[in-house]
Amino acid sequence: AAPGPLAGHHVLVTSGPTREAIDPVRYISNHSSGKQGHAIARAAAEAGARVTLVTGPVSLPDPAGVATVHVESAREMLAAVEAALPATVAIFAAAVADWRVADVAGGKIKKGPGGPPALSFVENPDILATIAHRKQGRPDLVVGFAAETENVLDNARAKLARKGCDLIVANDVAVGTDTFGGDSNTVHLVGASGVETWARQSKDAVARALVAELGRRLAKA
Ligand code: C5P
Repeated sequence: AAPGPLAGHHVLVTSGPTREAIDPVRYISNHSSGKQGHAIARAAAEAGARVTLVTGPVSLPDPAGVATVHVESAREMLAAVEAALPATVAIFAAAVADWRVADVAGGKIKKGPGGPPALSFVENPDILATIAHRKQGRPDLVVGFAAETENVLDNARAKLARKGCDLIVANDVAVGTDTFGGDSNTVHLVGASGVETWARQSKDAVARALVAELGRRLAKA
């Protein structure tokens, strides 16, 4: 393996949106570009880690030197994550759809006199919480993201506790911040010992700083 602060470690990263089918030609998804998650996978590989990236559909190339697994739905993402474990570090940057359509139609839903279809939804598995609450084979460091439009820090602290992770990277995605799909990000690192706010910087710089921070935490553990 390449030398570096994460040499000898397996790092798992999720990235991008998920797609939840309505019928064979339609789906529900979100605006995640995958830029931040892919940047983290690249930075971890540059730090010497063996990296597995589990990504939903994005228009980015697979990062060089990273084992990339392509999935569509949240349930596929969870299965790919479980198949990729064990890992010492797991970073959940994907924007996973919270709900999926309860009864996916087998054929294309037709427009007709009956009017629009009534879709009902069921909850998707929470991949981050599932892995963070594992009794056996839990990664040493589990990192979640929180995209919030208001009360960023309070929501992140609540999420840290509820999801059982070690660190939440919280970002403000309110209109005007240009975080969703943009190239820069303002993040707050929310952990058990408090909050650290980083100045707005490129998603690549956020990724490198996060990887450096995780390297320091692993060295201390
Ligand atoms: O609850 P919320 O979606 O805001 O939490 C965001 C964090 O949880 C992110 O790290 C995201 O990748 C993760 N998550 C997940 N599975 C879900 C929903 C969110 O892993 N079904």
